[in-house]
Amino acid sequence: MDDLTNEEIEAVFCLADEMAESMGEQAGVCRGKIMASLFFEPSTRTRLSFEAAMLRLGGQVITAVDIGATSLAKGESIADMARVVGSYADIIVIRHPWEGAARVVADYAGVPVINAGDGGHEHPTQTLLDLYTIRKERGAIKGLKIALWGDLKYGRTVHSLACALARFGASILFRPGPGLEMPEHVVRKLTKEYGGELRKCDVGDQPTRGDLFSLDAIYVTPSTPHQLAMMPDISIQVELEKGVDAIYVTRFQKERHAQGDGVQGSGTGYPVVDKRLLKEKTFRETLVMHPLPRIDELAHELDADPRSMYFKQAARGVPIRMALTSLLLGARQLDASTVREPAGARKTDYPVYDRGFGVMCQNRNCVSVNEKRYIKPEFRIVSRRPLTLMCIYCEHEVHPRYVASAEWHEGTLESKRYHSADSHWAGKIRLENLIAFDSESEARSRGFKPGRYTRD
Ligand code: CP
Repeated sequence: MDDLTNEEIEAVFCLADEMAESMGEQAGVCRGKIMASLFFEPSTRTRLSFEAAMLRLGGQVITAVDIGATSLAKGESIADMARVVGSYADIIVIRHPWEGAARVVADYAGVPVINAGDGGHEHPTQTLLDLYTIRKERGAIKGLKIALWGDLKYGRTVHSLACALARFGASILFRPGPGLEMPEHVVRKLTKEYGGELRKCDVGDQPTRGDLFSLDAIYVTPSTPHQLAMMPDISIQVELEKGVDAIYVTRFQKERHAQGDGVQGSGTGYPVVDKRLLKEKTFRETLVMHPLPRIDELAHELDADPRSMYFKQAARGVPIRMALTSLLLGARQLDASTVREPAGARKTDYPVYDRGFGVMCQNRNCVSVNEKRYIKPEFRIVSRRPLTLMCIYCEHEVHPRYVASAEWHEGTLESKRYHSADSHWAGKIRLENLIAFDSESEARSRGFKPGRYTRD
């Protein structure tokens, strides 16, 4: 989502409106262009709506839907595959189980690349059609209260959507299943980069029927007049009584849960949206959204309810993906007057840690961990105390245990020391000299000795 400004997103919506109204007149827009549709995880909506979008634009599609039927199965790198496919197609759409895989394809393909879902990280085009639906149904996004529901830990759609909602000035209610809270790196982005506030909810914050809708946390955007800091005594319950604008339901992402991690899906405390819940006053006018597929978390009895949006959402994937594809191919132009720096965009430009040694991403699904042969680990330094690095591929956070300075050589070998990352050294070493280590053995293997402030 960070690759699009708010104004670019608005421009995609305008073009999607135009294309939806004149679907039959778009067949010349991408004539002669080829889309490579690479789906290495199951998909119904995203793959078929991208392919339908390209065909409706008059382009053609080549596709691969099984890693086992590609040379990745023989050990080919994602980078090599990207270079080759980029020489066959004008645009690539990729879904891959590894987080950050789409970024690697974009680094090597030489043609526009669209992330159609990278592991549990992001699913930005789903967010485009989700925002489009909210805007079409409610007129605007700013000031709305949107509940994110279900597997917030591994649900890539909610990671992209939470950041986009914050940028467009909506407040967010978090209703995770047990053990499925929003990951730290997304919460950091919401609070540090988009400037809103997160309050963990207690019993007093719960809606009257807390058993049906028990909140974990609420994020209040800086653009609402009800900032928590300004109104510390604000009653979330009173706010909720005024109504929730949308519930965004997600399924338990069972394919991303490690065996034996103890977290379970439906039937074990996983929250369900059904007629009983929607009878509450809070939900009288609530849009019910879901990226689909659904399992048991969204009752079929709601399908005919006018508040249910999920099939409309899926249908809107076609004009949204037509608009995005034609813009990325240069077949349609953005109105330059609308493209400015985004008002609600990231405020933080973090320093980079790119030494390529000392510290690795700890996320076993990160592309940088799975394609070590050529990907150099790279991080943003998002906090010095406690020292926190964020992987540029999957955005997971790493907390290195030891630090050293690259300036040691200006002294004697005696000064080539490593120190505990929670000692004062973490703040003292200049960022351009900072070396971070996961372990003492890593520090020792680089010729560093324990310093006075090494604690183990
Ligand atoms: N919403 C979504 O990504 O659906 P598919 O997995 O069917 O593409």
